[in-house]
Amino acid sequence: MRAISDYQDIIISHFETLTLEKEPNNLYEPIRYILALGGKRLRPILTLMAAEVFDADCQKAIQAATAVEVFHNFSLIHDDIMDDAPLRRGNETVHEKWDLNTGILSGDAMLILAYQFFEAYEPYVFRELAKLFSKTALEVCEGQQYDVDFETRDDVTIPEYLKMIEYKTAVLVGAAMKMGAIVAETSTENANAIYDFGLNLGIAFQLQDDYLDAFGNPETFGKQVGGDIIENKKTYLYLKALEYSEAEEKEQLLHLFSIQPSDNTDKINSVKQIFNQTGASDATQSAIQDYTLKAFETLDKMNISEDKKAVLRAFGDKLMSRNV
Ligand code: IPE
Ligand code: IPE
Ligand code: MG
Ligand code: MG
Ligand code: MG
Repeated sequence: MRAISDYQDIIISHFETLTLEKEPNNLYEPIRYILALGGKRLRPILTLMAAEVFDADCQKAIQAATAVEVFHNFSLIHDDIMDDAPLRRGNETVHEKWDLNTGILSGDAMLILAYQFFEAYEPYVFRELAKLFSKTALEVCEGQQYDVDFETRDDVTIPEYLKMIEYKTAVLVGAAMKMGAIVAETSTENANAIYDFGLNLGIAFQLQDDYLDAFGNPETFGKQVGGDIIENKKTYLYLKALEYSEAEEKEQLLHLFSIQPSDNTDKINSVKQIFNQTGASDATQSAIQDYTLKAFETLDKMNISEDKKAVLRAFGDKLMSRNV
């Protein structure tokens, strides 16, 4: 197995060679734009890594990895519409730079494009990839719907939140890894084990995303800091703050999440203060650690070399300490 940075280099240069020079320009230009903004490229890197964990050359997994990343970027375009987000990867979101209709249709086209990358595989592998992909994409839609439904509910529970993030985010991380396993044609047992590893890592990843949404550095984060607070998202931070707060603080938090001020600065600052004072921020940090460790535990059950486990653990540690 190679070093993490090697997989990263392979993915970055692969996306540089991906040409989508097609007409009409108004459909393809936003697709080229979002893909060129880059991002961390985690999911395709994980697909390549999983293929090599199960002894296939990672080049064999490059089309599946591309499908996952194109799907992820599609989901970001539509997510930014749904979350009314102005910024993505430090740049204007697609629907801000163009308009709503452009975001909808370019996103739709990317979803179809993602499927086309599977056509590179022979029938058996193609079928397995497409089946997993369809199941996963539907779950992402379900998770996204829960996320939106929760904005206007005030009785969301932690188990409901965890299910929501499992669906909107973690299943794709799990699927990205399982696709590497499918391409490598390893056993179902191995494929499911690496899926569980990715799933738990994905839950930790979304918890961290929620944490950074409130506490990230606006200079480097690349998204609007406080966006989840503006949108009244029922994050782990929020739910733990409600659980841990005394009556007065609790009332204040409920009030803050019921208003839509034209200037959100005060709302964001007050909510963040409550997140910190109640211990919700610390609870989120430990949950991130717990789910990362849970991911590592699934590795213990896997019959792969210690070297490979070490690379996968290093990836999990890197995710935990990220600030973008
Ligand atoms: C953002 O994903 C959406 C979530 C599921 C949290 P990433 O943080 O992987 O976004 P990029 O691709 O690196 O920009
Ligand atoms: C996004 O969750 C999940 C999907 C895109 C499916 P978020 O809404 O938290 O992602 P960001 O923070 O905008 O990247
Ligand atoms: Mg969003
Ligand atoms: Mg969202
Ligand atoms: Mg977020």
